[in-house]
Amino acid sequence: MRNSNKPNAISFLVIAGILIWGPLPVDARIKGKIVLGFSQIGAESAWRVANSKSIKEAAVEAGIHLVFEDAQQKQANQIKAIKSFILQKVDVIAFSPVTQDGWHDVLIQAKNAGIPVILLDRAIEEKDDSLYTTIIGSDFRFEGRKIGECLVDLLKKENRSGAALNLVELQGTIGSAPAIQRNLGFFEIIGKYKNIKTFRSESGDFKETNAKQLMEKILQEASAQKTNIDIVFAHNDNMALGAISAIESMGLKPGKDILLVSVDGIREAFVAMDQGKLNCTMECNPLLGPQLMKAVLDVANGKKIPKRVVTPENLYQADTAKAELPKRKY
Ligand code: AHR
Repeated sequence: MRNSNKPNAISFLVIAGILIWGPLPVDARIKGKIVLGFSQIGAESAWRVANSKSIKEAAVEAGIHLVFEDAQQKQANQIKAIKSFILQKVDVIAFSPVTQDGWHDVLIQAKNAGIPVILLDRAIEEKDDSLYTTIIGSDFRFEGRKIGECLVDLLKKENRSGAALNLVELQGTIGSAPAIQRNLGFFEIIGKYKNIKTFRSESGDFKETNAKQLMEKILQEASAQKTNIDIVFAHNDNMALGAISAIESMGLKPGKDILLVSVDGIREAFVAMDQGKLNCTMECNPLLGPQLMKAVLDVANGKKIPKRVVTPENLYQADTAKAELPKRKY
């Protein structure tokens, strides 16, 4: 009887081929399906987890073969993944860039290989816009402005818009588009109020545990200087949740003793708003999978698509949180 465990001549040739020339082009393996290589940033927040789920589900729904790589928040890993997608000869590359800068060389490589690139969620700083087909995602600066306006309204309602106030900004990943743009948008509004001083502005990398530790440290520093913190602006809801735990551990009431505003609109943020611990959140919709897959199909079929697609989003405040909670999809 033939021993099926022994490598036959064909498998020997395939292995030798892989060793010499690298992996076979994906289109030689996944017959008939469009192949999308997607480099995801990581799993730093509930937003990101919902985004990855949406992408994976939408790929199945659209009949697209998805090669999904998690970069664990490292740009080097994203560049490595994109280079491997080029080697695999995928039909389309998409990625959510962890930072705004540093993509030029790898995008040139994709262009030279004739593979279209879609930016999802975050934009990049790149003068040559022929290096990507489209950007699908939120307007982060608009989000920053909306959350700034919400804070101004809250202060007016409490007759505190002229009072001397100390603010803490918990920034997202340094150098990322949402951290840069939300900061700019927020201070476009808040910068007009000279009575509001920034006590600290530090990065929690969009992570809840980082933000909790950071906020504890900042509250201790403030207390040592006999300074009250009045406002926290967190660049995402998970960091706001971390700040809430830190504020409570100091015996203070989040949402009352310290006003809290943030961005994303995750379900847990609505729970916190309903409990009066968070004052408002500006939605940033992570459910981009269906839009991405439509763009991939269009691009792969040679259709022209808009250079920028902005996701429509809403501001939510504590008074509507209970009614909105059952409708939240992430
Ligand atoms: O790029 C979108 C941002 O990235 C979200 O606000 C944040 O939660 C995520 O990690």
